[in-house]
Amino acid sequence: MPELKDTYPLYLNGKAAQPNTDLEVTDKFTGKLAFRTALATPDVIEEAIAGAVRAAEPMAKLASYERQAVLDHCVKRFRERFDDLAYALCVEAGKPIKDAEGEVTRLIDTFRIASEEATRNYGEVQPLDISERAKGYIGMWKRVPIGPCSFISPFNFPLNLAAHKVAPAIAMGCPFVMKPASLTPLGAIIMGEVLAECDLPEGAFSILPASRDGADLFSTDERLKLLSFTGSPEVGWALKAKAGKKKVVLELGGNAAVIVDKDADLDHALERIIFGAFYQSGQSCIGVQRIIIHADIYDRFKQMLVDKTKALVSGDPKDRHTFIGPMISEKEAKRLKGWIDDAVAAGARLLCGGGLDGAMLEATLIEDAPDGCDAVREEAFGPLAVLSKFTDWNAAMTEVNDSRFGLQAGLFTRDIHKVLDAWDDLQVGGIVVNDVSSYRVDNMPYGGVKDSGLGREGIRFAMEDMSEIRNMVIRRA
Ligand code: SIN
Repeated sequence: MPELKDTYPLYLNGKAAQPNTDLEVTDKFTGKLAFRTALATPDVIEEAIAGAVRAAEPMAKLASYERQAVLDHCVKRFRERFDDLAYALCVEAGKPIKDAEGEVTRLIDTFRIASEEATRNYGEVQPLDISERAKGYIGMWKRVPIGPCSFISPFNFPLNLAAHKVAPAIAMGCPFVMKPASLTPLGAIIMGEVLAECDLPEGAFSILPASRDGADLFSTDERLKLLSFTGSPEVGWALKAKAGKKKVVLELGGNAAVIVDKDADLDHALERIIFGAFYQSGQSCIGVQRIIIHADIYDRFKQMLVDKTKALVSGDPKDRHTFIGPMISEKEAKRLKGWIDDAVAAGARLLCGGGLDGAMLEATLIEDAPDGCDAVREEAFGPLAVLSKFTDWNAAMTEVNDSRFGLQAGLFTRDIHKVLDAWDDLQVGGIVVNDVSSYRVDNMPYGGVKDSGLGREGIRFAMEDMSEIRNMVIRRA
């Protein structure tokens, strides 16, 4: 079994630094202290931003093979440190070990994709001779790095959602300062350890756990040209309001829906929906929260869902048999338990689950939830799913759209026409056919509409945000 150290440094201008040990991080299952790390003060953040500004030019001048070599080194080291990384996630996030291993696999994919994209930063030649006035002119454009970037990453995927900012920044040639979630900083710190082994300009990266109050500079400092934030909608939109002239990318939350049509393969849908709703205790922005089921199969499929949910093994995330571990904190578990109780008090029926013990909330299914309750309208971000019934496909799509969020939706149907209608009409960043909203491959465009965010991640798309188009016009002699 890998072990954690007692103390970890932060990374300031590419080097380990230990200005204090003020941040205590707990094992989310035992609640005991797991390790200490430093909390960056505003002075330290200022030093990191100044370093990133100095590093902007040398980073932009790195050749694509040099950026690729850095990313390849990371891939190699993450493979070698696979078990360390998975264990760190398991402890600091309470993520069941199998899910933690899944996240490390995705981390490796994310850096591998970035390594490929580092050499594919193509531009375009554009004929400008569209009228007499422009005869003899030709245009060409290329992408140049936007400059120093600011990243804030969340607790639910401490490695891979940090990687979705770090890897494209390196591929594009942008220096960055990153604030990982204070509840789970270790994934990003280990990434810092690996990056520090590489030949990058001083100031190319800083990884700085910081308190939310102390972290204002990440959004307000005008020297930073892009803010990329993943986390809650409330915090994300508030940061955007303070971000001034910088570009802002927001990957926020959702209350994702799946539709199960009467012709669906129910065994397959069952397996995927249980996974999509409850893996890592439902703490994914695209976790299945609303299950919209055709009336003809409703009772049968409901029973299948209830039986499978009741059979989920919960317990210590370090145990390979565990499917449901703790939520990130007792406070969050109590918040969601409150939503379940409120829904039931308002007329919803509890089908299974609902029990709470510390941060362990049982996988919970409810039905007939009144429309206005938080369990339906807000982001549960925990092990709760709400069942509802439809008879008409268009009504099911209206129900998916009846949300202030729009990240992804899952569709289980064999009817291509319904699929194409959904692709046109669902107000989401993406639809997943024959699988759940929670499905993501790390090279696909990923992000949301409405309150779920702005912009897309997925390496190539993040690199577009981390760059500016620079045009050149040539008048032929
Ligand atoms: C998220 O929770 O924001 C991302 C989910 C994923 O990457 O699978």
